[in-house]
Amino acid sequence: MMPTPQWARAHTNIALIKYWGKKDPKLMLPANDSLSLTLADFYTDTLVRFRGDCPGDSLTIDGQPVSAGALTKAVRVLDEVRRRAGLTLPAQVISRNHVPTAAGLASSASGLAALAAAAAQAAGLHLTEQELSRIARHGSGSATRSVAGGFVRWYAGTDDASSYALPVAAAPALLQDIRVLAVIFSDQPKAIGSTAGMAQTVATSSYFPAWTERAERDLAALLPALAAGDFPRVGAIAEGNALAMHALTWAARPPFTYFLPATLALVQGIQAWRAAAPVPVYATIDAGPNVKLLTLADHVAAVQEWLADHFPTARVVVTHAGPGIQYYPERKEPR
Ligand code: ADP
Ligand code: DP6
Ligand code: CO
Repeated sequence: MMPTPQWARAHTNIALIKYWGKKDPKLMLPANDSLSLTLADFYTDTLVRFRGDCPGDSLTIDGQPVSAGALTKAVRVLDEVRRRAGLTLPAQVISRNHVPTAAGLASSASGLAALAAAAAQAAGLHLTEQELSRIARHGSGSATRSVAGGFVRWYAGTDDASSYALPVAAAPALLQDIRVLAVIFSDQPKAIGSTAGMAQTVATSSYFPAWTERAERDLAALLPALAAGDFPRVGAIAEGNALAMHALTWAARPPFTYFLPATLALVQGIQAWRAAAPVPVYATIDAGPNVKLLTLADHVAAVQEWLADHFPTARVVVTHAGPGIQYYPERKEPR
């Protein structure tokens, strides 16, 4: 007997050490280890039903059937679950994003992690977070880290079994007090998706070898800073790592960037403000024009005020560390 399906909720994450490049696109093995913070206020809810009366796998996000490319990513996750469960039934997948889709706010992280969890649950598999993270990885790299809560490290690994994510030890006060302000300039889908952008970077960017070395050094410095709860150190490492990642895209052929003019203006504005005032606030940017500001709870009001003065039209969402996967009964669709 198959279990009654449940909604699975997974939260997005923001990488402090970025994943930007695959060493094995088929197995979805990244070029370097990465490290992120799971976010409480951006998430995906997904329900999977394996059913014999469907012609094939289907996926809707917010009621809309998805493109062929999006379905392909989802099918990779479904196939991993079916293989482990010894199932051949098609899946009907219903998903709701509480995060803009494909806008650089990590919908692929929450989306594919929620799918992995919902599919495994519906197939009757009982998996550890580590095993579930391996399944999510087949859909989207950043989804590997969205299975767990708090600070999470994705070990690059060398094969399917060794490429997974686990929570990272951090000072409890830092995990409690860290805040992320998502500064949203655009919630429209980006012109170059993450998968294509990083593939072009790996193939053509002259900085790529330097990037993987840099990411390793940044991670080695970040781990003790997290353990010690040294927020200014954590912020400075994260900001530097994000800007190094974006430098890669300018050095690709053809060159490209995810930045809008406002993205650069905000990064420069934050750096100048930090130099002038004792406010610990740092910027990080994923594959999109939107910026995430890292700060501590005590400084949120000051940062909000500064944003209202300097970027009055941007939408700002304040969030904090979020949990790993959660489940809700089917008849109670979560809000
Ligand atoms: P983002 O910055 O939002 O992560 P990406 O280009 O990395 O942008 O990923 C966007 C893709 O993630 C979508 O085109 C789709 O394939 C996938 N995706 C997003 N949300 C979901 C979801 N809820 N369920 C399944 N796949 C999703
Ligand atoms: C800039 O995980 O979206 O957000 O593995 O091809 O689905 P695919 O790409 P994705 O890339 C995330 C890139 C990033 C950095 C990060 O989250 O580590
Ligand atoms: Co993504």
